[in-house]
Amino acid sequence: MSPHTLMTIGQQFERRSWAEPWKIKMVEPLNIISREDREKALINAGFNTFLLRSEDVYIDLLTDSGTGAMSDRQWAGMMLGDEAYAGSRNFYHLEAAVQDFYGYSYVVPTHQGRGAEHLISQAAIKPGQFVPGNMYFTTTRLHQELAGGIFVDVIIDEAHDPQILHPFKGNIDLEKLESLIKREGAEKIAYVSVAGTVNMAGGQPVSMANIKALREMTDKNGIKLYLDATRMVENAFFIQERESGYADKPIAEILKEFCSFTDGAWMSAKKDNLVNIGGWLAVNDRELFEELRNLVVVYEGLHTYGGLAGRDMEAMAIGIAESVHDEHIFSRIGQVRYLGELLTTWGIPIVHPVGGHAIFLDAKAFYPHLKQIEFPAQTLAAELYLDSGIRSMERGIASAGRNAETGDHNYPKLELTRLTIPRRVYTQAHMDVVAESVRAAFENRGKTRGLKMVYEPKYLRFFQARFERI
Ligand code: F0G
Repeated sequence: MSPHTLMTIGQQFERRSWAEPWKIKMVEPLNIISREDREKALINAGFNTFLLRSEDVYIDLLTDSGTGAMSDRQWAGMMLGDEAYAGSRNFYHLEAAVQDFYGYSYVVPTHQGRGAEHLISQAAIKPGQFVPGNMYFTTTRLHQELAGGIFVDVIIDEAHDPQILHPFKGNIDLEKLESLIKREGAEKIAYVSVAGTVNMAGGQPVSMANIKALREMTDKNGIKLYLDATRMVENAFFIQERESGYADKPIAEILKEFCSFTDGAWMSAKKDNLVNIGGWLAVNDRELFEELRNLVVVYEGLHTYGGLAGRDMEAMAIGIAESVHDEHIFSRIGQVRYLGELLTTWGIPIVHPVGGHAIFLDAKAFYPHLKQIEFPAQTLAAELYLDSGIRSMERGIASAGRNAETGDHNYPKLELTRLTIPRRVYTQAHMDVVAESVRAAFENRGKTRGLKMVYEPKYLRFFQARFERI
């Protein structure tokens, strides 16, 4: 299967072309500084794009988290904030939206995704228990480990290879999971942690067949199944596109069906839910909910605001409803795919198939002369910034951190630089500029030197680590 056998948005709609289902009402000027100033800014930032000032960035593809544009309806909703300490009207709107669109019974708001990850990890993991998951996510795994859990990667092998074309590279390998359950015993498994889509694998989806089979296996063994729903709407798009029987089902229906196979979910609403800040945790079990609702007041805020303003919850409730519109999600993923197709045409190594939220440049293939400990993906992020002021993010050895027991670096198979596309923010012309900058870095690749890490914080080191050129 070549990357082009996957259907494009144009084919889906049987149109020659497609366009965003919105028009621009307000604009924010972009700033571009000189190459000389970029060199200075990069050195000041220790070659870490997280340490750049945003005013020194031209096109910001650091993340799709909280960087989206809200709609006029969401902004109107901001004016309807009920800033009561307790029982805010906006909380009930949010609760109803999560119940309606995701289908869970009980909802706890949190300030963002990691707030929810903290609560579920504390409530559902006993020290020494295993938490199998479809590849790790940085904050998710850290909260599982801080709660005493031992993370085990049970994603299919294909996910670790940037070139293998598999329509559902986010799937859990059921044999890996079964052998873990057999080896350790079901009581040693806290829960299965499944993310749709899988961020670190390149935004790769999980199939409906996989989640159904997982439900069967976990039911048989009395194990809970929790979902990282951060980009689950995008996951639903891939099911609609690629899984038989779903082509004619609306995104909203697919989303709800998928969630129905899980016992609960945590959410970084800064992604799919189209807000700049917010998150939630939702479960079906009343007793667990009571515990989570009690914990949230310790760490986030009262159970009807969870660290958010009323207006934030209103924007989230509206964003949830907008996020499942088929036209929205087609154009969202279509824009990512447009960039991916351009780069592929130019022979630039990226993760295939192109996923939901970002293009992942394969830094190992970009810089075959660099050892992984010379931080190829971090190097590529620095080079792109130097070339054009575009900001991307390392997703390789720096992000993977150290082994909790041995203290050695984790050496992930994937050494990637992520160009993450914010929702409803940039145009296709921006994508062209980005693609050309990547091409320039690619043409220069032979001359590029790697980096060494000169400062390393204890937790989630990639955010604040500093580097120097070798
Ligand atoms: N789960 C996934 C899959 C994520 O991608 C993120 C955040 C979180 C949980 C945590 O949510 O940031 O709201 O606390 N991902 C961002 C990113 C940071 O850039 O990929 P948060």
